[in-house]
Amino acid sequence: MARPVLRTELCDTLGIEYPVILAGMGPVAGGIDGPVATSALVAAVSNAGGLGVLGGAGFSAERLRAEINKVRTMTDKPFGVDLLLPSNFMGGAAAGEMPRDPRDLIPKETTAGLKSIASNLGVQWQEAPRPAATAPRPSGGGMSDAQMEVVIEEKIAVFASGLGSPAPWIDRLKANGTKILCLVGNVKNAKRVAGIGADAVVAQGTEAGGHTGRIATFALVPQVIDAVAPTPVIAAGGIADGRGLAAALALGAVGAWCGTAFLVAEEANQPTTQKQRVLDAGDEDTKITRLYSGKTMRNITNPLIEAWESSGLQALPMGLQGLLIQDLVYSVRQSGREDLLMNAAGQASGMLTRIRPAADILHDMVAGAAEILGRTLPARVTAVPEA
Ligand SMILES: Cc1cc2nc3c(=O)[nH]c(=O)nc-3n(C[C@H](O)[C@H](O)[C@H](O)COP(=O)(O)O)c2cc1C
Repeated sequence: MARPVLRTELCDTLGIEYPVILAGMGPVAGGIDGPVATSALVAAVSNAGGLGVLGGAGFSAERLRAEINKVRTMTDKPFGVDLLLPSNFMGGAAAGEMPRDPRDLIPKETTAGLKSIASNLGVQWQEAPRPAATAPRPSGGGMSDAQMEVVIEEKIAVFASGLGSPAPWIDRLKANGTKILCLVGNVKNAKRVAGIGADAVVAQGTEAGGHTGRIATFALVPQVIDAVAPTPVIAAGGIADGRGLAAALALGAVGAWCGTAFLVAEEANQPTTQKQRVLDAGDEDTKITRLYSGKTMRNITNPLIEAWESSGLQALPMGLQGLLIQDLVYSVRQSGREDLLMNAAGQASGMLTRIRPAADILHDMVAGAAEILGRTLPARVTAVPEA
């Protein structure tokens, strides 16, 4: 395959060939299969010239370290780790105030409402097996303190924070030479992360799969660029082919951070049924819901999401909502209704037509963008800067 040329300053900053980053996608479908972006996908994208980013959110600290080492056996190219650092994990309760079983914080009405929704969909409610003893969790970000120690000890080339702020760790990351990317969905948060020293801001539009905000990529990216200059901005949300990549660069972004496009990569770690649902989805088949995590997350919609959204039930803070739905996920699996599980994906799902190697997805995206940008403008546009 001929190799196209497409470079921006991001390629020099991160030591990569193409300005395309694999989003550090965490777990779907209730989490038992682990994150979507594990070693195989990360190494495939890095080896193909982009930057692979490990979705660390679903891993314990030990598993995260093992997966980092696995990536290192599969590529000698740079790669990154993404973690979620939510500030309001268990409703902000301090560790000392946390009951022995955090489930005691879940309002009875919310559990009852969810049970009734499940029952109406023919799902028989069953309690998931409980761990022997539920230890109190740290208030800051669940597992994230221990995960961050691994990122620092392993001297990872690129760290991305998907939620929250890496401020408490920033000096140690920088001392290691780690480049820091922070995902944001609005100008306010973009200024905040640029202010603490992010090396690049990832401006993610509402089109994106997974946790997402309210502002569309085309409106968000230029506003973030203006707000945080000279900090470089990477565009995310809805970018799944060469046209999207070219548009992102034309908006002034230094690169693209892509999740949904790689959801249907052969190397993506998610069940084939879920990949198929992404392929089957059209432009209107995703919906934002707080059902699965407590935060706004774009998913391929399903009857459970529709029923939760119309029920009027309020989601709990991240962490607690995760505990609330553990029994739901277990019951759904026991009932053989995998179609009701979390299937995070973006609006670009409607553009995807087949499962194929990540290297092919990346190559086509880069070649398409290079072709568009190489001839400067599509033939149907005439523009002369100074006539
Ligand atoms: C299945 C899935 C899981 C995701 N998990 C994470 C995550 O754990 N951390 C994170 O920062 N972003 C996560 N995201 C969001 C992506 O990082 C990225 O911003 C988004 O996919 C970009 O938009 P696109 O899906 O339109 O390409 C996830 C997205 C998807 C589709």
